[in-house]
Amino acid sequence: MDKFYLTTAIDYVNGAPHIGHAYEKIITDVIARHFKQRCDDVYFLTGTDEHGIKIQKTAASAGITPKELCDENAQKFKDAWKALDIDYTRFIRTTDEDHVKIVQRIFQKLVKNGDIYKNSYEGLYCSGCECFLNPKDLTEDGLCPDHLKKPEIVKEENYFFKLTKYKDAIIKHIKENPDFIIPQFRANEVLNQLEDIQDISVSRAKSNVQWGIDVLDDDEQSIYVWIDALSNYITALGYDVDTPSDKFKKYWPADVQVIGKDILKFHSIYWLAILMALDLPLPKHILAHGWITIDQAKMSKSIGNVISPTSVLESFELEYPDAFRYYMATAAPCGKDGNYSDEDFKEKVNAHLANSMGNLLNRTLSMLVKYFDGEIKEEFFAVKNNELVGGSISLLKTALNKVDLVKNNFDNFAIAEAGLEIVNLVDITNKYVTDNAPWTLAKEGKMIECGQVLTTVLEIMCIISALIYPFCPNIAESMAKQLSFDLSKKLDDLTYENIKTGVLISKENIKPVFLRVDSELADKSKSK
Ligand code: MSP
Repeated sequence: MDKFYLTTAIDYVNGAPHIGHAYEKIITDVIARHFKQRCDDVYFLTGTDEHGIKIQKTAASAGITPKELCDENAQKFKDAWKALDIDYTRFIRTTDEDHVKIVQRIFQKLVKNGDIYKNSYEGLYCSGCECFLNPKDLTEDGLCPDHLKKPEIVKEENYFFKLTKYKDAIIKHIKENPDFIIPQFRANEVLNQLEDIQDISVSRAKSNVQWGIDVLDDDEQSIYVWIDALSNYITALGYDVDTPSDKFKKYWPADVQVIGKDILKFHSIYWLAILMALDLPLPKHILAHGWITIDQAKMSKSIGNVISPTSVLESFELEYPDAFRYYMATAAPCGKDGNYSDEDFKEKVNAHLANSMGNLLNRTLSMLVKYFDGEIKEEFFAVKNNELVGGSISLLKTALNKVDLVKNNFDNFAIAEAGLEIVNLVDITNKYVTDNAPWTLAKEGKMIECGQVLTTVLEIMCIISALIYPFCPNIAESMAKQLSFDLSKKLDDLTYENIKTGVLISKENIKPVFLRVDSELADKSKSK
């Protein structure tokens, strides 16, 4: 694997980020960090989608310019991602100058090639979706099924993209590449949508929408949001219609594009058609994740249950975002919906991160100090020159086998499932400690056996720190520090021999890696 390029959807900036947006950025960051452990060159793109009628209207009602609204809200997204340790390579804004210029040239090229043509049109426009809706998709009351709002009747002269020209090629691609859409059960949905697709409007009359990218050579039209937004995945890399940059040549096609299930149609139909029209390779995978509900209810301003990711960190007084990252990244099986509740959050992170994982390390290091002044002796190793020579062979094998299972899950973008494998390794290791009772061995004077058990556990803790790193980077670093383990090691270089002989740690340097979320604090935040 010589490069790995992954992207998220770019968020609308007519409000602040909520934990649904955060869910997507967290799972993508977890994937990015995992692949950094396997590949030297990972490019992770995220950003904001800033044009369109909705932004124009929100800004007007706030009495500010659209650009002012975008600047203010894009910053809120950046701040939130910083607080969550989202380690992106570029944060693209669709108002960025380089993006705007390239989108104009892409549009111009598609007009020149005959993929975009002008036509007059009357249709039902939903500003929530920023697209025209097919009357057959409306609810019985004539509302947009996603936004439960009545679409506006819009009659305009627009540019149209010849989606129908690419219909058969898209169907063929989806059928021939069963792992193109992940999870696979969503592919049928897309194939059904493809049955009655029409050419799509890709511009709006400036008399109706001023906040958009101007069409070159036509003063009356601005480019409609989806062609602008989707192009970000290539403009960010410096794609240009005539001379694609080296960066573009290196990273495109994307290895995975992470999006929510609600915008799969745009990514698996419109986006493919645009790429085909530009004669560019297609992304390898589209990961359509499910949605996050709050206490089992859909998040909505009218219900008043919209939660900001930073408020979770604040109300639980979390020093690091790790617990929240872990909870979110394991909240739903691949592609399925997940739920957030304060109570469940508290229970899960206390159980998995504090009681099981953190405590295991803490107990083991404390015993090493108590019985051996923190020293690992030569005879404690169950492994010599990467050969298993005794001691806890099967457990060490299980641990390295888990590395492969976790990698397999990540290859299928099954993030929560990868998390479960890690928790399972922690549980197995805890059971090993209980079964082998090093404290009894010490009492009976069986010091070498006792040292072997502790060393085996510490070897496995090194592996666990590497596996948990993408989910919980700060906790992993704290674990690795106490184990004198080099976290920058690639996953493929992990061995049975991560611990060195000599004094590993002293009493003062043993620190809990994760403190239990205080239950009183959590209750307080719930009643807020
Ligand atoms: N701007 C478009 C995407 C353009 S991509 C070229 C958009 N923006 S959005 O702000 O409405 O949504 C951004 C992402 O957040 C989408 O992938 C969407 O599915 C995701 N989510 C929005 N609410 C969500 C939840 N409640 N749960 C999980 N993800 C959610 O669509």
